[in-house]
Amino acid sequence: MAASPLLFLAAAALAVATLVSSTEAWRLATPPPLPVLPVPSAPQLKWQRREVIMFFHFGMNTFTDSEWGTGSEDPSLFYPGALNATQWMDAARAAGASLVILVAKHHDGFCLWPSAYTAHSVRSSAWRGGSGDVVGEFVAAARARGLDAGLYLSPWDRHDERYGEEEAYNEYYEAQLHELLTGYGSVSEIWFDGAKGKNATNMTYHFQEWFQTVKQLQRFINIFSDDGPDVRWVGDEKGFAGTTCWSTVNRSMITIGEAGIEKYLNEGDPRGSDWVPPECDVSIRPGWFWHSNETAKPLSELLEIYYNSVGRNCVLLLNAPPNSTGLVEDADIARLREFGAAVATIFGTDLAAGSAARASSERGGRRGGGAGFAARNVVDGRDDTYWAPTAEDGRRNGYWIELRRPAAAPPFNVVRIQEHVALGQRVERHSVYVDGAPVANGTTVGHKRLHRLPRAVAGRTVRVWITAPRGPPLLTAVGLHHDPFVEADTM
Ligand SMILES: *[C@@H]1O[C@H](CO)[C@@H](O)[C@H](O)[C@H]1NC(C)=O
Ligand SMILES: *[C@@H]1O[C@H](CO)[C@@H](O)[C@H](O)[C@H]1NC(C)=O
Ligand SMILES: *[C@@H]1O[C@H](CO)[C@@H](O)[C@H](O)[C@H]1NC(C)=O
Ligand SMILES: *[C@@H]1O[C@H](CO)[C@@H](O)[C@H](O)[C@H]1NC(C)=O
Ligand SMILES: *[C@@H]1O[C@H](CO)[C@@H](O)[C@H](O)[C@H]1NC(C)=O
Ligand SMILES: *[C@@H]1O[C@H](CO)[C@@H](O)[C@H](O)[C@H]1NC(C)=O
Ligand SMILES: *[C@@H]1O[C@H](CO)[C@@H](O)[C@H](O)[C@H]1NC(C)=O
Repeated sequence: MAASPLLFLAAAALAVATLVSSTEAWRLATPPPLPVLPVPSAPQLKWQRREVIMFFHFGMNTFTDSEWGTGSEDPSLFYPGALNATQWMDAARAAGASLVILVAKHHDGFCLWPSAYTAHSVRSSAWRGGSGDVVGEFVAAARARGLDAGLYLSPWDRHDERYGEEEAYNEYYEAQLHELLTGYGSVSEIWFDGAKGKNATNMTYHFQEWFQTVKQLQRFINIFSDDGPDVRWVGDEKGFAGTTCWSTVNRSMITIGEAGIEKYLNEGDPRGSDWVPPECDVSIRPGWFWHSNETAKPLSELLEIYYNSVGRNCVLLLNAPPNSTGLVEDADIARLREFGAAVATIFGTDLAAGSAARASSERGGRRGGGAGFAARNVVDGRDDTYWAPTAEDGRRNGYWIELRRPAAAPPFNVVRIQEHVALGQRVERHSVYVDGAPVANGTTVGHKRLHRLPRAVAGRTVRVWITAPRGPPLLTAVGLHHDPFVEADTM
């Protein structure tokens, strides 16, 4: 008899508990903020997150000790006796790359695949008895090592007789695009440039037709040129982006191959209406092609390039030229391995991990929004979560976010800031304070901004102030790192 009220009480408690938990489950999430246009396409976002990709300049020039061939080279000169594309892929992986791009044809017009539209190709060489295909071996080796492949097909062709006859040459070029983009499976990036000798015949390239053909044949490809449409040239061959670097430009301002637009390409346009982020192409050696008299840049230079490219909202396209044996030199591979290991050493440990985070505001509030846009999202190690302030915050003095590190956290000399660029690039100016003292400042952030500090600091609080007139800033990460490779002269 006495058990009955108790049972009732227990049942009531259970009902209340159920009610509470279902209320929890039904608490409505705050939606993400609206994008600030333009925003990247899915292939552009995937490309941006690669950060380091590799270029392989290889071809007739490798055998003639030149950078620009004449087009009259004898195909029999091409004989890479021990070509091993798998060895190239190991070089790329050592550097941390996930995409490799091959020069399929350079300005001299010699084709590294057996094109049906010219005799000036590997078919006319004695390599693999005339039945070789460097593009095929390259793509197969990349796949086998889990890397994506890309290709460069030079518009300027100093060999082909059709060059100068606008219709005939553009047809020839289109036909070769078809061969390359239908014969080798998925191609993730294709490279176009406007490089041309001063004395070259004047001829109009049908870039618009070419670009549309490319997209028809490969839906997920990114097209690189001065003018994108997906990835733009950074405006120099040093691998350095501007300290201000917007992913946005107005494509209408850019003509492929035209001088005078380098600064615009280097810095982008805060009011640009096209999302065309920059790629920094640079060679690990002085030349793009292999020369027996040249050697790879030292690690310190490669790291400088990394900070000025990846650390300035760009993807680094690093070239390693295979030699006339068809192999990347052991010394170059060792340097690439050193580079990849250095980047892993610096960025493999985040000294911000374990910090508490707070901000000038949190979109949706701490309770209402749940974890949605909390300040702590910048230290969760994920690239799909981000801190968002409220729309009202920051209008007068800017926004801020602050990390509070555990006591005795180790010193750091690199600050990493990353925007959630999927919703548009927003930060126009920012500064970093450690325990209230300014240590670094700059303009744009974008996908990734790296600041090297003059000396290592071991502060408790790290605060980033941001002005972002294009819309509330969305930060996916604030990281702190220690770079043990910095030399006194780069400080
Ligand atoms: C090609 O290079 C890879 C990686 O260095 C190596 O494992 C393989 O044995 C090489 N193949 C040949 C045929 O030498
Ligand atoms: C370009 O043409 C000029 C005038 O015909 C000639 O003097 C010069 O050698 C040529 N340059 C090249 C690189 O062919
Ligand atoms: C090249 O040809 C185009 C179109 O035919 C013309 O507009 C341009 O001025 C020419 N350039 C030179 C350097 O002759
Ligand atoms: C780019 O286009 C936008 C919108 O049309 C315009 O406001 C801006 O001034 C343009 N940029 C330049 C450098 O002309
Ligand atoms: C190496 O040789 C090539 C071709 O002879 C030349 O163009 C290049 O300037 C040389 N490089 C250096 C660093 O001297
Ligand atoms: C090319 O590099 C490989 C690997 O270091 C080396 O064995 C070979 O001798 C080099 N070839 C030339 C022509 O230097
Ligand atoms: C920004 O940093 C530079 C040194 O990198 C310093 O000279 C300047 O005073 C800083 N500006 C602000 C507003 O903190």
